[in-house]
Amino acid sequence: MTIALDRPVGTTDPAELVGSEMTERLSARIVTDHPEIDHATARRIIAQTAAFLAAGAQRPDLELSPSKLVDIGWHTWILHTVDYAVFCEQVAGRFIHHVPTADGKQVDGGPEAARERTLTAIAGRDSPSRPICGLRPPRWVSAASATRAARTARTAARRSSRITSAARSMHRAAGPANGAAVTDTKAWDTYSTQKPERRPANAVGATTWFNWTQYPDHGPGAEVLGIGPGAAVLDLGCGKGGNLAHCATLGARAVGVDVSLAQLKAAEARWGDVDGMALRRGDAVQLLTDTAEDFDAVYSVFGAAWFTDPDELLPVIRKRLRPGGVLAFSQRPAIEGCYGCQASYINRPEDEDPLVVKRWDYEPERWVGILAEHGFTAASARVLPAPSGPRKVGTLLVRARG
Ligand SMILES: C[S@@+](CC[C@H](N)C(=O)[O-])C[C@H]1O[C@@H](n2cnc3c(N)ncnc32)[C@H](O)[C@@H]1O
Repeated sequence: MTIALDRPVGTTDPAELVGSEMTERLSARIVTDHPEIDHATARRIIAQTAAFLAAGAQRPDLELSPSKLVDIGWHTWILHTVDYAVFCEQVAGRFIHHVPTADGKQVDGGPEAARERTLTAIAGRDSPSRPICGLRPPRWVSAASATRAARTARTAARRSSRITSAARSMHRAAGPANGAAVTDTKAWDTYSTQKPERRPANAVGATTWFNWTQYPDHGPGAEVLGIGPGAAVLDLGCGKGGNLAHCATLGARAVGVDVSLAQLKAAEARWGDVDGMALRRGDAVQLLTDTAEDFDAVYSVFGAAWFTDPDELLPVIRKRLRPGGVLAFSQRPAIEGCYGCQASYINRPEDEDPLVVKRWDYEPERWVGILAEHGFTAASARVLPAPSGPRKVGTLLVRARG
């Protein structure tokens, strides 16, 4: 069995990339499926599977074999397609396929040699025979289980194919006024691992709903967009797709664009069965530049409208927004005195620098002026107050017509 890779792995400890929440979820699954394995061992299996995948990424020239326990970890992980794809992206820069050894074919040098090779690759400079994470020396995977895992990997690949690429490039240079702003997919993929999923239902029991603010069950809903059944709607930076799914359930043709594959995979995993919803991977400006589609409403909820220079984004929105159509976006209000391009930090483990993305903040009245300068009409901008409670920061909601 080999791991098919074509990009080198980074230097981060792979076990750290898994995170405690994902480790708990995956190890709980292992314990359910394999009652003979206790929780502590299941957690070590996940850490060791991470190390195995990273080793395969570092040494694509070697034919590595997982131990029986790591193989259990690998199978479990692959079934959690979103988590698995995100981890692969972080550790290898691409999806790591599980390629079974052909029936009857022995791994290079036989099972013992494969075991030594694998442990050496995992341990890096350490002693070749030291098993990591305190696990027993491994036994080797059967052809039948390899075939099973390959099948699950193929299913995962089929499911992910519904996300289409909307951009020629995932990186975009911003206009000269603000220097080079790069739409950093790594930053947003990292953000995706930290952002919890939307609840199964809201306070009134609805399974889809629109939320413009950072607070649950707070603020206006989809009525801001003024759309009805059959309307074409575009979500810029749709993330995990909760608002987009709601637009689709209202009967709209709902298109979401996002630079982050991790975000889009989460959207597909949760809302893949919703009719009328399409996910495009790419940069918002690029999509609006390239597409021939027109939209009745374009919106962004803490999304690409916040993280893109408005002088770049607004002209291309104007081109694709039907006359009289609604542009609306929400984001945190500017901090007094901090206007224009600002830095947003996405935290990572303590021994790594945070990732930085650029955002654009203005006071409400300045947004109204910017929209008018770009030819939008009926522009309004206001800060919705936070709900009563300890948090005080409200939400800026901006709306205009094309
Ligand atoms: C803070 S999240 C908000 C996601 C979603 N709108 C929500 O309300 O949960 C910002 C999203 O915008 C996406 N994004 C940022 N810049 C973008 C750009 N230029 N084009 C497309 N998506 C972008 C990120 O990948 C991320 O998913």
